Amino acid sequence: MNSILITGGAGFIGSHLTRLFVTKYPNYNIINLDALTYAGNLANLKDVANSTNYTFVKGDITDMELVKSLFDKYNFTGVLHCAAESHVDRSITDPLAFVKTNVNGTVALLQAAKDHWKGQMEGKLFYHISTDEVYGSLGADGFFTEETAYDPRSPYSASKASSDHFVRAYYHTFGLPVKISNCSNNYGPYHFPEKLIPLCIHNIINKKPLPIYGKGENVRDWLFVEDHARAIDVIFHKGRIGETYNIGGHNEWTNIALVKELCHQMDQKLGRAAGENEELITYVKDRAGHDLRYAIDSTKLKVELGWVPSLQFEEGLSKTIDWYLNNSEWLADVTSGTYQKYYEGMYG
Ligand code: NAD
Ligand code: TYD
Repeated sequence: MNSILITGGAGFIGSHLTRLFVTKYPNYNIINLDALTYAGNLANLKDVANSTNYTFVKGDITDMELVKSLFDKYNFTGVLHCAAESHVDRSITDPLAFVKTNVNGTVALLQAAKDHWKGQMEGKLFYHISTDEVYGSLGADGFFTEETAYDPRSPYSASKASSDHFVRAYYHTFGLPVKISNCSNNYGPYHFPEKLIPLCIHNIINKKPLPIYGKGENVRDWLFVEDHARAIDVIFHKGRIGETYNIGGHNEWTNIALVKELCHQMDQKLGRAAGENEELITYVKDRAGHDLRYAIDSTKLKVELGWVPSLQFEEGLSKTIDWYLNNSEWLADVTSGTYQKYYEGMYG
């Protein structure tokens, strides 16, 4: 039986990945280690919480003793490392929190895996989930490939770049079997409403302003979160040890075009007049060091492992909006309390 540690499984991407592994691989024992920060929510995993092959452990990845004791107890054969501080705006306010979890936490996990698997690395795997933001910012042309030089420009991306370097260092220095994937922006159900798409869905529902940083001309390459989880599954099982794979949707949108599409779809879904939601668009002060454009070339993943995205963006966005409209309790729950304080601090 495979024993798999998933870190950050109560977060956005981690919960989709945990659900996929728990349901698709009943013979795997899945242990989800999550500190349940503001971004972690056990409601994201309600449907699999009682599965016999699933265990939740509340704890911090920087807690070396805890991490070691979990390796001893569960004899992990694989690690899917998702836990991170993940929001760029928060990394501008509090960079050290990002160093602690993203760098120190990753090294604590690497160290525990190296020690536990010493002399028996065969058949083991440490899979590190990372971001395309480590590559920096593109101009109008070009794509990030696996060979693009790292050029992180926010405290978030710098901390993720650092964690990627540590993962490769453990591969080269200690022979730890690792894989890394760097993915573009995800969207879909259970996305915390501090990020652009769920924040705007929440604000449209409540007829609140839609804050667009700068001129809204920054470009992101959006991928439906279940497609990301599927890519990780394929790479985890079939990718080559020591390799990096870029994951992306070939789906570039300027922020303003994306928010207008959202407004348009939600005019129809909420029975509002055409153009009503667009009136909520409000241009606000730009993010410091705002990366202009991200775009991923995922040819390696397609050619080597046959993965391609399954959804067109308009369809994925429609499914996502429907999920938020049908899960108003979840949305109300995560936007109460500390979220209000965060929102006021960020947007006034
Ligand atoms: P998220 O913020 O939604 O979830 C992070 C999870 O990690 C939460 O459940 C949180 O409680 C947990 N966590 C945070 N600090 C922890 C700690 N010290 N110990 C244990 N658990 C901790 O993040 P996400 O958007 O799901 O991102 C998951 C991973 O994917 C991250 O590594 C991120 O860098 C990467 N990624 C995200 C995107 C995206 O668009 N969201 C794109 C590419 C890569
Ligand atoms: P975000 O969802 O925070 O992801 P990332 O910064 O990791 O790409 O932001 C996506 C884009 O939307 C980014 O260019 C910043 C912009 N943005 C806004 O214009 N307004 C907002 O309120 C937020 C949260 C983001």
